[in-house]
Amino acid sequence: MADTATAIDPKADGRCTLGFDVYNPFLPDFIHNPRPTWNRLLEEYPIAWHREMGLWLVCPHDLAFETLRTPKLSLLISDWENAPPPVPEDQKTDFHRAAEHSLLAVSPAQHVRQRKLTQPAFSRAVMDKIELKIRDLFREVFDELADREEIDVVTDVAERLPMMSIARMVGVPRAEEALFNEGLGYNLVRSTDPLRSEEDREAARQGTLPGYKFLREHIAKRRAAKDVGDDFLGMLIKAEIDGDKLNDWEITALITALITAGADTVLDLYMGAVKTLLEHPDQYKLLLERPELMENAVLEILRYYIPGKVGPIPRFVIEDMEWGGQPLKKGELVMVALSAAWSDPKRWKNPEVFDITRNQDGNIIFGAGAHFCIGLNLVKAQGKLFIEEFARRFPKAELTGELEYDYAHFNARRLKKLMVRTNI
Ligand code: HEM
Repeated sequence: MADTATAIDPKADGRCTLGFDVYNPFLPDFIHNPRPTWNRLLEEYPIAWHREMGLWLVCPHDLAFETLRTPKLSLLISDWENAPPPVPEDQKTDFHRAAEHSLLAVSPAQHVRQRKLTQPAFSRAVMDKIELKIRDLFREVFDELADREEIDVVTDVAERLPMMSIARMVGVPRAEEALFNEGLGYNLVRSTDPLRSEEDREAARQGTLPGYKFLREHIAKRRAAKDVGDDFLGMLIKAEIDGDKLNDWEITALITALITAGADTVLDLYMGAVKTLLEHPDQYKLLLERPELMENAVLEILRYYIPGKVGPIPRFVIEDMEWGGQPLKKGELVMVALSAAWSDPKRWKNPEVFDITRNQDGNIIFGAGAHFCIGLNLVKAQGKLFIEEFARRFPKAELTGELEYDYAHFNARRLKKLMVRTNI
């Protein structure tokens, strides 16, 4: 560790501490180019307590890997010193019931059980079927843009595809798509935004209820069918290990997780893909000449583009412990700055270079350990379809230079506008 003398705050029990003067994820300079900040944190504050954000920030790749994997840290929000009080039984709605069965809310043993039972639904074979279903969707959305000389990648394409893809994956009938996409999807994402007021989050929670009602009826109908089928939902319903099966709440919770973990992340991937590939025409040309590099390119786009600020999932300290040389106290919040880890020069040679042939072995782009991303195969399929369709429709596309970020977004470097000249 370089000069931590300035970083140690004697009033903070000898901890390495920092504040918004060093890391402020809402500053335009950081959003435009996070690399200088990540480099400084990696060098001077590898693991440090952020005074204003009230959390430990972990940046180096090796330590991030260990932090994601260690059973010494908990994912249960009830282990946080600032956990909201539990909701009384008689005030619980479908929103709360789904949340308490989620992969992030159950005990480690239940988590292992749920992951085993859900595994077949995320197999390559099921994902190949989903790929066929969503290929049509991608074509429909791009068809609507066929004659446009300029498009906004955010609103015209990227925002529309992820939720609609999840709806097709879950087999939501077209007539109910709005209820699922806007009703459930939009409100679920709003309900998890810590920067919104409690009233706004409560309104969002209430807004999810018609979507949950539909979802539970949809699962019940499929369960009652003579042949539940072997699509995604069918595989979840059928899954069985020694007579043990997923119940309706567990399936509902999993679909909730697909939305909260798999909609905005993929939206950022699409924007990152267009921006990064058009900024690096040699790499884009190479990808089109060598399509076998596609999966590697999707990983490199995520690594290089830096979609996130901190996260993904918070950890909580179960008992006082030393971690990365720092004293962590029971109840404190720990966040891995995953995209700082992806930029760590100790792990990646020339991390600031975009190279789709880069060896990605040992990457933690999709996490590590028990909570490793369940949607990896789906991300690969969606990334491939998106890039192929974009390149096929707009082979001469160029960035116009007009783009806008949502500086206030709580955890993403989210673009709200990305203009492309199609040159058709
Ligand atoms: C570019 C897209 C994505 C990225 C970069 C990404 C990344 C990650 C990472 C890093 C984790 C581990 C979190 C942790 O341990 O703190 C994770 C977990 C998870 N991801 Fe993804 N993800 C993406 C898309 C998706 C999609 C499309 C889905 C589902 C449709 C999904 C579902 C999940 C779920 C359910 C978990 C929690 C798993 C568990 O707790 O066992 N993700 N993801």
